[in-house]
Amino acid sequence: MLTDPAVCAGFTTDWTGRYRGSAALVVRPADRDQVAEVLAVCGEFGAAVVPQGGNTGLVGGGVPHNGEVLLSLTRLSALGPVDSAARQVNAGAGVRLSALREHAAASGLDFAVDIAARESATVGGMVATNAGGLRVLRWGSMREQVAGVEAVLADGRVVGSLCGLDKDSTGYDLAGSLVGSEGTLAVITAVRLRLIPAFARRATALLAFGGTSDAVAAISALRSLPSLTSAEVFYDDGLRLVCAHRDIAPPFPVAHPVYLLVECAADDDPIEELGSVELPGALDTAIAVDETARRTLWTYREAHTETVNSLGTPLKLDVGVPVARAAEFERAIRAAVTSGTLVLFGHLAEGNFHVNVVGADDEERITDTVLRAAAALGGTISAEHGVGVAKAAWLNLTRSPAERDLYAAIKRAWDPAGALNPGVLIPR
Ligand code: MLT
Ligand code: ZN
Repeated sequence: MLTDPAVCAGFTTDWTGRYRGSAALVVRPADRDQVAEVLAVCGEFGAAVVPQGGNTGLVGGGVPHNGEVLLSLTRLSALGPVDSAARQVNAGAGVRLSALREHAAASGLDFAVDIAARESATVGGMVATNAGGLRVLRWGSMREQVAGVEAVLADGRVVGSLCGLDKDSTGYDLAGSLVGSEGTLAVITAVRLRLIPAFARRATALLAFGGTSDAVAAISALRSLPSLTSAEVFYDDGLRLVCAHRDIAPPFPVAHPVYLLVECAADDDPIEELGSVELPGALDTAIAVDETARRTLWTYREAHTETVNSLGTPLKLDVGVPVARAAEFERAIRAAVTSGTLVLFGHLAEGNFHVNVVGADDEERITDTVLRAAAALGGTISAEHGVGVAKAAWLNLTRSPAERDLYAAIKRAWDPAGALNPGVLIPR
């Protein structure tokens, strides 16, 4: 249990510096039974609790805002033996994504979801936010990887199962309810996750285009490849900032408006397969010839987050639109953001844009405009980061009154006293 404010500060501030709160205290249980004891005691004293994993969230969903008890799950870091017959593994909520992937690799397997915050993000938090990341087009989000969840209710009772049965037709999907619940229903203590084969060979290329619609057309063509794993977009303005921040050379001698980072993974080298796809709109192509070159191509994309942060505290809006409407969305956003520095990037195959704005003098208007634009195009106000406190007030854009009533009823059923993560997902 930590009470020193200087020590607690690392748990009460998110890493962008946007969300700063305070905690009555920080509790760091070592196992499920200690989590249950903590929750039972908090319940007895009417103390609200904010569960936290690796504190890599971007919507203020994992930091305490009003002196709650901060329940850190990072010590629940046990990894079970890989079950090769089922291709599954049990992981404590505090297992870091990179540790999970290393553990799977030792058995010739891999975990399907990969995100840039892999060294810090924990599987409990990733399940709680239904994290997506870089490989969703091939294997889906966290929801598709979860074969079981063990969690503790606000009153300290343990629910769920880690048996990982692929078939189970006995009523409500309680584990499924916890995916994307953002710590508002119960505290996830362990998960059973599906694993995928570890592919030996990868082919990575950076393609340049004149506009987003050409990049979308390229994705349509590339989808014919069974080995296609990632299709990530960024733009020239963002790339320039990344190159300046990292002090690296740009990928091409001349600048292009739009870049698409494409990766294929297979047992046999997919490079020929990737090269065989006709991409009429491509203006330039850089193919990684070795792992160093591959890392460099990924740096252009993955360093966007730290680069944006280096400019100041960013407004970060993670949204999704149907991919066919991505170009329309991009145009609308560029027209709407008239103050500050706009940096757009994201996961184009899912129409998932990260709208980052630094130094804007009208953040509330920009937030409202961006979220409304996504909703108006049939999209979502959160594709992979969650709703948190950041977007709770805009949930009505994509959830009807009847659906929001269901959200409130589900919350009451799991957490009648409203002790878990108050204000997150469901507005106070
Ligand atoms: C990413 O795709 O890099 C992450 O979602 C982080 C971010 O949006 O900054
Ligand atoms: Zn992302």
